[in-house]
Amino acid sequence: MPVDLAVITAHRIIPVIALGSSDKADGLAQALVDGGLPIAEVTFRTDAAAESIRAMADRGDILIGAGTVLDVEQVHRALDAGAVFIVSPGYNQAVIDECLGLGVPVLPGAATPSDMTAAVNSGLDTVKFFPAGACGGPGTIKALSAPFPQMRFVPTGGVNAANIGEYLALDCVPAVGGSWMVPPGLVDAGEFDRVTGLVAEAVAAVENRRGGRR
Ligand code: 3PG
Repeated sequence: MPVDLAVITAHRIIPVIALGSSDKADGLAQALVDGGLPIAEVTFRTDAAAESIRAMADRGDILIGAGTVLDVEQVHRALDAGAVFIVSPGYNQAVIDECLGLGVPVLPGAATPSDMTAAVNSGLDTVKFFPAGACGGPGTIKALSAPFPQMRFVPTGGVNAANIGEYLALDCVPAVGGSWMVPPGLVDAGEFDRVTGLVAEAVAAVENRRGGRR
């Protein structure tokens, strides 16, 4: 199922997930769906990534991407498992070219003017600004926006319930990524009701912004 990057960013939040075991994948997907956020970036930081992507994507009710994709081989493992978008922590031209060639949405990590230049030259208009908090947060995004007014940023790394509003207030930020609503401790313990609660709170924070009640 081909998907547009705009469909992904329309959710405004991309939950970032690292599953130690794929047997928690279905419960976590259900918690995200129940909380009103049917999307996830499942990171290749654990051996369970491909199996978890498959378990979640096979449900058919949640948009699954692969994160921490570092090479072309992982792009193919992710797509074979059912991922429909690819995210990487850094700027990797081989991964980008492969995704563009396949028509798969790709969000490369980018944090510097050099990264932005490379992204523009690859025809990309959206990058993952990572690690957002450590790189200066909203202030750095505003500074990068000046020479790259066409660029859209998906800040990830250090985004949380307290600061999400500062990021989403920027016109050049269509969405944020983060793990605050899917804490590994709760996921590993199978406490999915509590995960659903955190997800619903995150969605409510976005909805309140839309309604102008920040
Ligand atoms: C990522 O891989 O995108 C980040 O590790 C997520 O950052 P966070 O855990 O600070 O939300």
